Amino acid sequence: MSENQFEKHILCIGAGYVGGPTMAMIAAKCPQYKVTIVDINAEKIQAWQTDDLPIYEPELLDVVKKARGRNLFFSTEIDENIKKADIIFVSVNTPTKTFGEGAGKSADLQYWEKTARNILAASETDKIIVEKSTLPVRTASAMERIVNSNNKGIRFDVVSNPEFLAEGTAVADLEKPDRVLIGSQETAEGKKARQEIVDIYANWVPRERIITSNIWSSELSKLVANAFLAQRISSINSISALCETTEADINEVANAIGKDHRIGSNFLNASVGFGGSCFKKDILNLVYICESYGLTEVARYWENVVKINEYQEDRFVRNINKALFNTIANKRITLFGFAFKANTGDTRESPGIYITKKLIEEHAHVVINDPKALDNARKDLAGLEENLEFEIDPYKATHDAHAIALVTEWELYKTLDYEKIFSAMIKPAFIFDGRNILDHQKLYEIGFNVYPIGKAALTHF
Ligand code: NAD
Ligand code: UGA
Repeated sequence: MSENQFEKHILCIGAGYVGGPTMAMIAAKCPQYKVTIVDINAEKIQAWQTDDLPIYEPELLDVVKKARGRNLFFSTEIDENIKKADIIFVSVNTPTKTFGEGAGKSADLQYWEKTARNILAASETDKIIVEKSTLPVRTASAMERIVNSNNKGIRFDVVSNPEFLAEGTAVADLEKPDRVLIGSQETAEGKKARQEIVDIYANWVPRERIITSNIWSSELSKLVANAFLAQRISSINSISALCETTEADINEVANAIGKDHRIGSNFLNASVGFGGSCFKKDILNLVYICESYGLTEVARYWENVVKINEYQEDRFVRNINKALFNTIANKRITLFGFAFKANTGDTRESPGIYITKKLIEEHAHVVINDPKALDNARKDLAGLEENLEFEIDPYKATHDAHAIALVTEWELYKTLDYEKIFSAMIKPAFIFDGRNILDHQKLYEIGFNVYPIGKAALTHF
């Protein structure tokens, strides 16, 4: 198709975990639109054009291949592509601020604002700007003020369309979303812009799953969705600590409460703690927003979700230390998994990072095993190499180890030959299942001392 035969020219700024998969899905489902993704990171843009994509996400390559070169394009020419676009999705990173006012809590909007100024400088025609990144409530008004400060006679409408995909299941989440949320100003122009975005998703998402709202509700709903999800994990993890001291079993408790349809059974897996680039960042952002509006009690309430998560990570390491006779100095401890969850190579805010550092503080020798995340693990743990090994083979990784700490729920770990692993480990051999995915009774019978989360330990002494 030639340039002007496409119905719409869609641009996405930011080719990361969100920009890449969401735009690939739009392009695959809508051959009538031209979709271009730009990024300042040339290496990433290059990788998106190969079969070795810059992120690991099941089935993503098939979706990309369906549209790449047909109506899906990757580029580092940001200004030129802004000029040609009718609709610009902004999907740049919005990490927690590390400096100045709000450091450690509020969102760092420097990448976001730079994009707004880029759009303003390069545009020659009217555009719809779509907030895809997760942003503090009322960010759209700042965006509108920046872009509409032009004297070129250009009109910009800002729409919020937060993304709810989860890593590891991004393709399925995008193909069959629970809902798509699109917020705009409630003016005639705002509603018209909103409808244009509804029309894109309506190509494959049932209309009743496309929700529209005012722009502030849309921005806030994204933060609140993540806060509620993380709160569930902190709730079940807090109860896991109580189970360990009362001989109740966290899986049985989760099953019993989850059968109540008002509670529901999803997202009740006790774990070593939640990780990922967003839960902690978005809750802290919510906390900061509440504080800035003087809502101290509300801020404290949500802050505790993060505190319980830190407690859970800390408890896991303390349990290891305690079980290994209160000293892990010079002991070899193998981490099974380093990604923040299974089916991704992403390690951002992974509990594995905290656990490894804490174990090394106690002078343990840590061996990291993960099928997809070793490259990121090397970057996260740079400077600690003296006490570390990275080993892709789980059998070699556990050779001569005193203990295994399972951090990520990869299917692979359920299928290993634990008799073989046990025979090559130092005795007594310990296994700490931070995800409760292994067959604890069987491991115990093999000879392991087994420490699940939220259940009594199975020990031989
Ligand atoms: P990411 O770091 O993977 O990708 C962001 C990309 O933006 C990077 O490649 C970076 O180089 C690029 N970028 C930054 N400034 C730029 C600029 N001025 N011009 C062009 N490119 C620029 O981040 P992500 O995980 O994709 O997250 C993006 C946003 O989406 C965040 O706000 C996040 O909270 C939100 N989000 C993430 C997920 C997720 O699963 N990762 C899910 C839902 C929402
Ligand atoms: C999460 C949300 O699920 C997405 O809806 C959202 O779009 C995204 O954040 C975002 O804004 O970035 P993600 O972080 O990719 O997605 O993955 P989740 O499946 O939510 O898992 C987050 C963490 O919680 C992982 O470390 C996971 O192992 C942990 N978890 C999850 C548990 O410990 N127990 C559970 O029952 C579920």
